[in-house]
Amino acid sequence: MNNTSDLDLPVLTQQRQEMQLAQRLNRVAEPQTIRMAKLGRELKAKGINIIDLSLGEPDFRTPDHICDAAVKAMEEGYFKYTPVMGMPELREAICQKLKRDNGLEYTPEEIIVSTGAKQSLANVILSIVDPGDEVIIPTPYWVTYSALVELAEGKVTYIPCGIEDDFKLTADRLEKEISDKTRMFIFSSPCNPTGSVYSHEELVALAEVFKRYPNVVIVSDEIYEYINYNGKHESIAQFPELKDRTVVINGMSKGFAMTGWRLGYLAGPKAIVQACEKLQGQFTSGANSITQRASIAALTSDLGPTFKMTEAFRERRDFVIDALRNMPGVKINNPEGAFYAFPNISSFFGKTDGNTTIIDDEALSMYLLHNAHVSTVNGGAFGNPDCIRISFATSMDKLKEAMQRISDALAKLQ
Ligand SMILES: Cc1ncc(COP(=O)(O)O)c(C=O)c1O
Repeated sequence: MNNTSDLDLPVLTQQRQEMQLAQRLNRVAEPQTIRMAKLGRELKAKGINIIDLSLGEPDFRTPDHICDAAVKAMEEGYFKYTPVMGMPELREAICQKLKRDNGLEYTPEEIIVSTGAKQSLANVILSIVDPGDEVIIPTPYWVTYSALVELAEGKVTYIPCGIEDDFKLTADRLEKEISDKTRMFIFSSPCNPTGSVYSHEELVALAEVFKRYPNVVIVSDEIYEYINYNGKHESIAQFPELKDRTVVINGMSKGFAMTGWRLGYLAGPKAIVQACEKLQGQFTSGANSITQRASIAALTSDLGPTFKMTEAFRERRDFVIDALRNMPGVKINNPEGAFYAFPNISSFFGKTDGNTTIIDDEALSMYLLHNAHVSTVNGGAFGNPDCIRISFATSMDKLKEAMQRISDALAKLQ
């Protein structure tokens, strides 16, 4: 029985309002990706047929052989705490994966496993960035990078990269912003939200600049490594002059459809790995033991199921990009990785359907939610307010319906 009477409610609300929270929370915002997904769910609960293209999560089941390994781990009794850095066999498997897929040599002491790539990012940012330290982030970027730097009281320098450069940072632009004061550089390739993938030559050019700034720690988020439509994944850790200050972030979520299992890892210099171990030892300890056993199976077995999922994403990418190209007023790059389209929709700013005037990216995203019943995320959340992000990690049938609805809704804007 609920024993809270109507009379108690104002008192409870007042107490909540008066709760004094730490100042640092003022520096953290709820991710717009999560806010849009929430709004979509609320409308769905009201019976509206919302197609959710806001979240970055594969719609596939985790492959069977990985699930089987988890069941076996439970049967074998892997129920205890594991070392904070992760099971030695898993860290060995990660070393072998880095050698097999990326040609990178690491020892298990240079690997730390965590509860998701997000935690690995938090570990490394909190381990390196002191208040006032400068961190360079090219935009568009994944929302969590700036939030974590702000939590560490670092100062972000954004370098805007436009659609004309396929949203990629060039060596010239980096050269203009980097200085001896720069402490860290964070980027993802394949990139969330643009799908851009840095080629070997593009990384060589950036590496030439980094070589001249030995204080900069490079954080390379490679979580979308396997969702790459042009073949070979290139890591900036391949350059020997940079390897001892490059931190590779990766994990199981995207390539193995294991978002809910929560497993990420970081490969980098021992000193950074030890710092992360110290922090993680206080925050969460070792990652889930069953997930770690399942991840060993995933990383050491045939990648066939992963590549099959990538092929399905490629088909959806081709469909979505083609559909967006055919919508008047929409500009789009050709994403070579990840599962997002990041169209420039700024030509609709100032237009109206007679009821709603589109003042900015957020207004367009809300217009699509309420009029096309498709949920997207406004580009401002990723540092580019001329765009919106559309996730194509959903079925072809839903994508076909969603693209038609978006096209019809945009055509009403005059
Ligand atoms: C670029 C990027 N890095 C990291 C993550 C987090 O991955 P995990 O589920 O391993 O925490 C995401 C998830 O959306 C992402 O898009």
